[in-house]
Amino acid sequence: MKITMIGTGYVGLVTGTCFAEFGHHVTCVDKLSDKIDRLLAGEIPIYEPGLEALVAKNSQEGRLSFTTDLGKAVAGAEAVFIAVGTPSSRRGDGYADLTYIYEASKEIASFLQGYTVIIDKSTVPVGTARQVARIIKEVNPEADFDVASNPEFLREGAAIADFMRPDRVVLGVETDRAETLLRAVYQPLYLQETPIVKTSIETAELTKYAANAFLATKISFINEMALLCDATGADVVALARGIGMDGRIGAKFLHPGPGYGGSCFPKDTMALMRIAQENGESLRVVEAAIEANGAQKAKMVKKIRDMLGGSEAGKTIAVLGLTFKPETDDMRDSPSITILPALLEKGAVIRAHDPQGMEEARQLLPDSIIYTSNSYEACKGADAVIIMTEWNQYRALDLERLGSVMKQKIFIDLRNVYQPDLVKEKGFRYDGVGRS
Ligand code: UGA
Repeated sequence: MKITMIGTGYVGLVTGTCFAEFGHHVTCVDKLSDKIDRLLAGEIPIYEPGLEALVAKNSQEGRLSFTTDLGKAVAGAEAVFIAVGTPSSRRGDGYADLTYIYEASKEIASFLQGYTVIIDKSTVPVGTARQVARIIKEVNPEADFDVASNPEFLREGAAIADFMRPDRVVLGVETDRAETLLRAVYQPLYLQETPIVKTSIETAELTKYAANAFLATKISFINEMALLCDATGADVVALARGIGMDGRIGAKFLHPGPGYGGSCFPKDTMALMRIAQENGESLRVVEAAIEANGAQKAKMVKKIRDMLGGSEAGKTIAVLGLTFKPETDDMRDSPSITILPALLEKGAVIRAHDPQGMEEARQLLPDSIIYTSNSYEACKGADAVIIMTEWNQYRALDLERLGSVMKQKIFIDLRNVYQPDLVKEKGFRYDGVGRS
């Protein structure tokens, strides 16, 4: 099948490449000629494990191409996916900014040839697909097309595996023709018996937000439980096992930490709250999850301060991990963006390391941060070390070596990666999240 992917951001690039891997012929389009030039040269603009090899393979085999020429890419395509960005609006009110979606719809319209399905892949508020249809009809009343919504549930860092083995595929369609075509797009998942959930277009649009909001709520719930564990002397890791083994609750997304971040949960929970308000409803649980997430970061600053004896002024803090999660270079809404400036403001000196995120971190974090080449460098002369992101290389640190270069042996494990007793045995004072 001939597929066009509009937008080569994270979602567009991963999805387009994986469709090509399925055997479809995919053209990825982007307005940024720099980006397209880099992709044509085999350079991948984001860090996503396995993506570079998959792009190279499918480009070489002639199923994947990149262009800035939208007209050529759309002409003759059977499925056109819109995967452009939907950032939070610049007004700062939490609404999703749909400018790029509507621009893309206008541009696609005049190039459509034959029956085409235009599919929203981006995370968009309820009603967006209908607006896309309206725009296309306005520009090209003759066009033979349907719109559909097919939200993505990929996680950064595990996107290819998530794409190839999804828990489900959600198809929001309203004609048999569109359904048949989209089922054909996902036909390669048939052998794995991947469930296809067919819904109305509005339901599919809302399902994406509901999934992210539920996961964000689950994290905020366990983060609050961790705070209660800290206050009562209980252990949240055991507690999470104790509740997670109940099939109705589920063990995933019950890892407490410094708060959720990334390009999705913070933006999508806010957008969902706004969608509800616009429709005369209030999602109090989601609102509370957002608030708890903000509070969690502030609590982490306090935890660090307490471990340092009540003040971070003049103390050197080693921070391991800056990205919002491991296996990505993405710093968007990372907890480190809130926590580190708060420590610096009170006079701390910060020595940081991240395997992939330091380049982006330099643009977003205060200049005074000292970036180092590895964990042990970061810990030189430090009063405390903080595990901020659970990268694999921080999971088995040589604690004796670490301790030998530090000024004070204080270990603050904001991802609960270490067994407290093992760290304490090496002479450290240890604190995790909900493990006191
Ligand atoms: C999330 C969803 O998991 C995907 O299903 C969805 O497709 C994607 O958003 C999106 O909308 O595009 P992602 O943001 O890549 O994926 O990352 P997650 O693995 O979900 O982690 C999000 C944040 O939650 C991270 O900061 C992570 O550290 C935190 N987290 C996650 C926890 O603090 N505890 C957990 O147990 C799980």
